[in-house]
Amino acid sequence: MSSLIGPAVDRVDGRLKVTGAAKYSAEYALPGMAYGVLVLSTIPSGRILGIDTSAARAADGVIGVLTHENAPRVDPRGKGGGDRTLPVLQDDLVRYDRQPVALVVADTFERATDAASLVRVRYARGPATTRLADAQLYTVPNDMGRVLDLRAGDPEGALARAHVAVDHTYTTPIEHHNPMEPHATIARWDGDKLTVYESSQGVFTGRAKLAAVFGLPPSDVRVIARFVGGGFGSKGSIWPHAVIAAMAAKQFGRPVKVVLSRPQMFGSVGYRSQTIQRVALGANADGTLTSLIHQTTSQTSTFDQFVEPSGLLSAVLYPPPNLLMTHRLGRLNAATPTFTRAPGESSGSFALESAMDELAYAARIDPVELRLRNDATHDAEGRPFSSRSLRACLHAAGDAFGWERRNPQPRSMRAGRMLLGMGVAAGSYPANRSPASARVRIDADGSALAQSGGADIGTGAYTVFTQLAAEELGVPLERTRFELGDTRLPNAPNAGGSRLTASVGSAVKLAARDLRAKVLTLVANDVASPLRGASLDALDARGGRLFFKGDPDRGESYVAILRRHRLGAVEGTSDAAADDAAKRWAMHSFAAHFAEVQVDPDLGTVRVTRFASAIAGGRILNQKTGTSQIYGGVVMGIGMALLEHTRVDERNGRIMSANLAEYLVPVHADIPEITAIFVPEEDPYVNAVGVKGIGEIVIVGVAAAVANAVYHATGTRVRDLPITPERLLASAS
Ligand code: MOS
Repeated sequence: MSSLIGPAVDRVDGRLKVTGAAKYSAEYALPGMAYGVLVLSTIPSGRILGIDTSAARAADGVIGVLTHENAPRVDPRGKGGGDRTLPVLQDDLVRYDRQPVALVVADTFERATDAASLVRVRYARGPATTRLADAQLYTVPNDMGRVLDLRAGDPEGALARAHVAVDHTYTTPIEHHNPMEPHATIARWDGDKLTVYESSQGVFTGRAKLAAVFGLPPSDVRVIARFVGGGFGSKGSIWPHAVIAAMAAKQFGRPVKVVLSRPQMFGSVGYRSQTIQRVALGANADGTLTSLIHQTTSQTSTFDQFVEPSGLLSAVLYPPPNLLMTHRLGRLNAATPTFTRAPGESSGSFALESAMDELAYAARIDPVELRLRNDATHDAEGRPFSSRSLRACLHAAGDAFGWERRNPQPRSMRAGRMLLGMGVAAGSYPANRSPASARVRIDADGSALAQSGGADIGTGAYTVFTQLAAEELGVPLERTRFELGDTRLPNAPNAGGSRLTASVGSAVKLAARDLRAKVLTLVANDVASPLRGASLDALDARGGRLFFKGDPDRGESYVAILRRHRLGAVEGTSDAAADDAAKRWAMHSFAAHFAEVQVDPDLGTVRVTRFASAIAGGRILNQKTGTSQIYGGVVMGIGMALLEHTRVDERNGRIMSANLAEYLVPVHADIPEITAIFVPEEDPYVNAVGVKGIGEIVIVGVAAAVANAVYHATGTRVRDLPITPERLLASAS
């Protein structure tokens, strides 16, 4: 392994970001650009009887107002590039609170904001289902190619016969992603061609959706997202505001920018569904699981379907021979939920890993030991793991954390007057991959350019792709540039499902090989070249030179070859896709998290005082950006455990905490020092670059580790997130 891959390389875009030179979607200023501000519904269900836009249209600087009465007709289902059905001013129906009902367009943002407040909407309110407990439930056996309902053996019988069993219901609340950068769209038409600057996790997904909605060939749509300030899943789809911005740009004949306010982020851009999960575990006296039942209920909208697949990891972490996994959905008068960092595994691991903790106490087995005893070789569908380092994660993080200092008795440890607790939880997340393409070029001056369209949502994709291109081409890092985030570049999947690095990395590797092959073709009959007649696999590349493996002097530089052949550049391309290894192997990353908390026995306030995570995610390309991923996952998981909770007024389906003053996320003072460990792991099957993706595994199990530490500190089990002081005190009494 060469020196370019693995170490803590600084972000190649770091300077651009800290100097403000990195341009985010809202920051483009196009000639003649107007500003659109959304008007949102104030009822959860019903019809619009009338919209009075006269005052808004008469206001200073207003260019026009788009409503369902005058908006261009589009296909709101627009299949392709994500299958969301989008309420985009096509009818008078109100399907959820905060649905867009108008867009006011003016010459400045301030004037558009002011005029939007002058729009008057009259509604006929309809019946609304706002509580999951009131919803009609239906079964979802399959979704997006995933098996969501699974039965093996006799789970109920085995549970009844188990030596020790636990059977409880856990709940997780609605959570909103809240990336630092709000969603933003600038849309511009040139004739029938549409260009969109979009804060997006995937420009090609966005292009496909916009093309389908507007009935255009994808080649007539360009989507650009060069810098993205976080997404967590919310920017994995095109949402109504982006379509409405493009409709307005068409209607008013000029570019239109729509940037969501923070309260509007709690509207039509997705969220993590609430879940109600029953987890029942049965085990032998030695703790070996004999039965696992994981039944999830989550919510979707009245007009679209999204499943929070919380049970999936129960088929991966420790699947016993008797297993039942089900997913049911209830339709609510609410916006459609969507992917939220480790969709399914985040919420599911809270339930499963809390239940494992409860089983450990019931069976009087150390919680780490219980997990070690149930380590698995195959998933529930009988596929062997391509690599599985859960044991190593538990040992590495447990040692760093000092688990052996824990007194197993709940409520037995103190730090001054505070109750002290230690908890553990594990996690898994699939190693995904999608087709991706790449183009690489070496210019006559020896510098390299590599391209693939996938977005960098703040994870470090620019950096690790630059590292990979430099490594594979054998060109110094500082002479290598990577371009991404534009549909004019080669195809790439979403930066979602932890798949981008595996997908694009594999494509870059193949494209570099293609480039080297082209160089060899050039010199095949070149008497001046020491590489004449060489085979591809006989060569290495480093320092801007190609040379025979083990014989660095026998070779020459790209610059010399290009000069002799009077070429300005040489290029390589690739279209990479997964082979069928994913069918033969279960491919997953694994994690172990250890949390220490201090709980005020009088107030019920919880403070996380120490945290250690160990992640096995295959090859780690960059220790620095990778470690930042662990920090981010732990921070978000602590938020999930203790703070994050979107509150809905059930009488009118209205989100009551649509701002960052009432929707709490952790701040620095809430976060302790985090020990971040990557367990070395080489997986020969997962893909050509050996990476499993680490953007999501880092949060899976974090909330359960905190919850289990709270139980250990207090002897009180809270099965509903977030663990607030009032819940902790109420459960204790
Ligand atoms: Mo991620 S929740 O797959 O964008």
